[in-house]
Amino acid sequence: KQAESHILVIFGASGDLTKRKLIPALLELEKQNLLPDQFAVLGVSRTELSDEVFRSRMTEFLPKDVSSELIEKFLNRLYYQAISTADAYDYPVLRDRLFTIAKENNIPENFIFYLSTPPSLYEIIPKNLASVELNQADDGFRRLIVEKPFGTDLESAKELNRNLLDYFKEEQIYRIDHYLGKETVQNLLVTRFSNGIFEPIWNHNFIHHVEITSAESLGVENRGGYYDHSGAMRDMVQNHLLQLVGMVAMEPPVIIEADAIRNEVLKVFQSLRPILEDEVANYVIRGQYIESHIKGNLVKGYRQEDGVNPESRTETFMAMKFFIDNWRWAGVPFYIRTGKKLPTRVTEVVIHFKKTPHHLFGNQINTEQTANQLVIRIQPDEGILLKFGMKVPGAGFRVQTVNMDFHYDDLANVHLPAAYERLLLDSMQGDATLYSRGDAVEKAWDFVQPIINAWNNNPDIPIYGYPAGTWGPDVVDQLVEDGKWRYPCKN
Ligand code: BG6
Repeated sequence: KQAESHILVIFGASGDLTKRKLIPALLELEKQNLLPDQFAVLGVSRTELSDEVFRSRMTEFLPKDVSSELIEKFLNRLYYQAISTADAYDYPVLRDRLFTIAKENNIPENFIFYLSTPPSLYEIIPKNLASVELNQADDGFRRLIVEKPFGTDLESAKELNRNLLDYFKEEQIYRIDHYLGKETVQNLLVTRFSNGIFEPIWNHNFIHHVEITSAESLGVENRGGYYDHSGAMRDMVQNHLLQLVGMVAMEPPVIIEADAIRNEVLKVFQSLRPILEDEVANYVIRGQYIESHIKGNLVKGYRQEDGVNPESRTETFMAMKFFIDNWRWAGVPFYIRTGKKLPTRVTEVVIHFKKTPHHLFGNQINTEQTANQLVIRIQPDEGILLKFGMKVPGAGFRVQTVNMDFHYDDLANVHLPAAYERLLLDSMQGDATLYSRGDAVEKAWDFVQPIINAWNNNPDIPIYGYPAGTWGPDVVDQLVEDGKWRYPCKN
């Protein structure tokens, strides 16, 4: 499919996301020749700027390996309009500007509106767009991309869905979860459904447990104010990591199309066994990083970060165990672990297969080591690793685990698109496969809400401190029965 000619309107154009992610992703698409010929970007924000100043501000994070001619061509597609986005009176101005740009550049009146603003504006902007009839068109299209966070709890997510649906139809709404834009996340589908060897054993008969780790070495940096009202559960689990679970656990879709795939993801979320408020302490562990020394340097604790309440009980780490109550996954524990200020940055899914029924080789002392593992490395060092037992050459039958290891890096000359590149391109093609659907987002909230409630309502549920630079509180080991977490940096 070709990207369709249109104007992309970015609300929140003076924000970080625009210059760090969106504009560089668009330039990369330009470089790959994937943008339509008739295309423009209109940045919208409150600050008064000329098109020229906006263009020059957007150059800060552009990829380096692009010719100056191409950069110039690309920058000439950028325009800027100052309006007060919350104010309906400003929208006729926006509308006029859009139609002028379309006319001058011979672009059909197709518009994609990207909400890259604070979430408090997610309801008012669609309403204001509707007030000047920019939400619907008889010919041409109108699409709305909504950035995260999508709600702060189940109720607010439902309300946001209701409000958006007052002005836009579900098929016009694209809810971003940038994890779905990652090449390696999409590759989960290919690994599972294009290989004859994996799918037959991808179930409770052969899989012992599934582990998903998303570790970050950075702390909250300059986002303390936001993060302290969010925490790892809302920031990473409710959205990104549950979407990963959806990809790992879903049934084969009947066809690779948005609704077929998103129906299967929804079914996974519908099968999540609820964790009741009074069970939370048994299934979920939360932690917060505390001051420590890393390589001789003193590293601040979370409560000392700017914008963070010095008595905060917001989790910067969490680990949980849960089950998917359906035919395929009956009895298979799933584990999720994520945190800030951990020893390394890595996201991976590990499928732990069951051990052989009988240990034939007496010296196979460490049987955990010889249970097969399929490690899907989402980032960095994207690739897939299969661990299996081999005989140590020489006398007897000593078994050793070896790796079959594929790295995307080994594919010479292959450009691994950044998540935003893929997602923006898909929205231009009208393909919502890699965007979350409203019902699935609500289901995911439904699952995590009792956990958040328990943390809020029950001060006896501990929040464990862990020294910055470690793998979280030691108690997380107790969550995994009959197994161990994998520590990626030790391999
Ligand atoms: C964002 C979170 O959605 O995802 C951040 O708000 C987090 O706190 C980030 O760091 C992780 O994304 P990635 O692509 O770096 O794994």
